[in-house]
Amino acid sequence: MASTPRPTPTPYDTDKYPKTLKVFLDHCGQRRCKSAFIQDILPNILSSIGNGKSQLNVIGVGSGAGDVDVEMLTQLHLKHPWARLDYETVEPSRHQLRKFRETVNQNSHFDFVKFTWNEMTDTEFEEHWKQKNITKKVDFIHMVEMLYYVKDPEAAINFFHSLLDKNGKLLIILADEVCSQVRVSKVVQGQLCQEYHPSSALSIEVIKSLLDARGVVYESYQLLSTVDITDCFTEGHETGELLLDFLTKVQDFSKRASPELRREVMTVLRDCSVEKDGRVMANDSHSVLIINALD
Ligand SMILES: C[S@@+](CC[C@H](N)C(=O)[O-])C[C@H]1O[C@@H](n2cnc3c(N)ncnc32)[C@H](O)[C@@H]1O
Repeated sequence: MASTPRPTPTPYDTDKYPKTLKVFLDHCGQRRCKSAFIQDILPNILSSIGNGKSQLNVIGVGSGAGDVDVEMLTQLHLKHPWARLDYETVEPSRHQLRKFRETVNQNSHFDFVKFTWNEMTDTEFEEHWKQKNITKKVDFIHMVEMLYYVKDPEAAINFFHSLLDKNGKLLIILADEVCSQVRVSKVVQGQLCQEYHPSSALSIEVIKSLLDARGVVYESYQLLSTVDITDCFTEGHETGELLLDFLTKVQDFSKRASPELRREVMTVLRDCSVEKDGRVMANDSHSVLIINALD
């Protein structure tokens, strides 16, 4: 019997993920950029949702450990201090969900929120929603850096978009076409990841063309930052290897890749980098899309 090809594991599949993520966050300016967007621009966007309702329904898709969710929740509360929040989180990783719950449990500040923890993928959540005949409409939904792992990003966007209430907003954050992550993922995808996560090289440009084709209205904001990839050029360097896992979206990339593929990835990384003060800094640009509810 022909054997099914073994899927290539992403770093998210393992207990090593928090360490991989931490190394990445320590080496890039992305978190700072996202936080600045959430504090300076998002509040204005959130002010128009809800139509003065006393309860706002929110869904976080692919929330991870909830660091970004917590920042958004805080801004939502500041904008709508009298509203209670009904917050559904959709996250397939038990480990990540546990971390998110721990953060919430340790912080009495979140007593204005009722959390529902859905340990599910986007498609399992859609099934669950339809099976239970849930009819509630949602005021704010976010999908931050998670569409790379979804089997059918267009279907996922269409489903969550259809849940929005009048004046509701869907926020998507994803890497730009020129971002080093997208460029290396394109190289890796053809050779290692095809079976497992076909969207790993997805960029915001692809999502914009899908939305444009459907005539969906959205606003776009660019978040420009860099990631320090100097250690990736020292083979076997612990930090460098973890960074490579994160950038290629393949767990233990160097062990799985042929020497040629590794060399190709390093060339691409060099091409989308500049040298600054002796460090190699790769382009890490991302975009935020804010999509309005359907009329
Ligand atoms: C790069 S992390 C982003 C986490 C968080 N949104 C952030 O920005 O910090 C991607 C997250 O998507 C989750 N994920 C992977 N496949 C998913 C799917 N099909 N549906 C929902 N979430 C998924 C992963 O478990 C992981 O927590």
